[in-house]
Amino acid sequence: MKTVHIAIMGFGNIGVGTYQGIEINHDAIAAKTGLDLKVAKIIEIDIDRPRPVSPDRSLFTPDRMEVFQDPSIDVVVELIGGVEPATTFMIEALKHGKHVVTANKAAIAANYEQLTDAANEAGVLFRFEASVGGGIPVINAITTVLRSNRFEEVTGIMNGTTNFILTQMTQAGRPYADVLKEAQEKGFAEADPTADVEGIDIANKLSILISLCFGERVKIEDIPTTGMSGVTPEDIAQAKAEGKVIKMLASASRENGKIVCSVAPVRIGTDHPLASVSNEFNAIYLKGNILGETMLYGKGAGPLPTGSAIIGDIIDIATHTK
Ligand code: HSE
Repeated sequence: MKTVHIAIMGFGNIGVGTYQGIEINHDAIAAKTGLDLKVAKIIEIDIDRPRPVSPDRSLFTPDRMEVFQDPSIDVVVELIGGVEPATTFMIEALKHGKHVVTANKAAIAANYEQLTDAANEAGVLFRFEASVGGGIPVINAITTVLRSNRFEEVTGIMNGTTNFILTQMTQAGRPYADVLKEAQEKGFAEADPTADVEGIDIANKLSILISLCFGERVKIEDIPTTGMSGVTPEDIAQAKAEGKVIKMLASASRENGKIVCSVAPVRIGTDHPLASVSNEFNAIYLKGNILGETMLYGKGAGPLPTGSAIIGDIIDIATHTK
């Protein structure tokens, strides 16, 4: 049995989900993979915040450098969020020879090359499946089994918080503010939910998918983005009267050699395949030149689904390294 010593950096909703996922499935993972996943350190200042799990207090440290310099730590899981200081901390961990796993779409969208260069230079692995689509294995799909394709389009619902809000406003007539509060309580929303409701989180994810699908960098500032905070119950009722629903859609395609992309609330017919994607579920439609069309569907937000993707990356790293 090989023990994988993991440091979780940032113990918020997703850190807790990752910890819980390892607790729940430790033995099943060991039986399947021969790996003993062990959370050895938690880099976090706020030890006493109420959480649904109670790791031993000795696991907590505020000192990331102590962890990065500890030769027994194999993988650092970055779950601080935001571009900085998370990018700097990840590069430090990579330079200290730690494999890094992250769910941080903002940092990857802003600093993809710096992070992958730092990993390559250090001869370690950098994985970020959880950054797009929560538990949906969309990054693995694009970079492994679908990589024989020239991608022509990627479109989808890529934010659980806004899809939860729009679903609840549409189906239950609930007020925006109430549903946003519930999305925060369920651990769907970002620390600052402005990133969700103004479409910034989706633009970060779309920027990552554009890089992976089309091999081109489009900065989030260059993605035309409209949020959903201005969508009113009247807009929803009017869409309903037209046989439509409002969904936050992200879309990118290559047209005449150029990437055309956008993020916006859009009215779609109730017979559209994305119309029935509800609550925190996400769906990502891909069109490849030899594959044709495919759609990946699942929980796009939430501590355990996101933890599932993070743990998958840890297992992948541990099975591909000594
Ligand atoms: N805040 C994000 C969402 C989390 O609601 O989709 C998952 O990336």
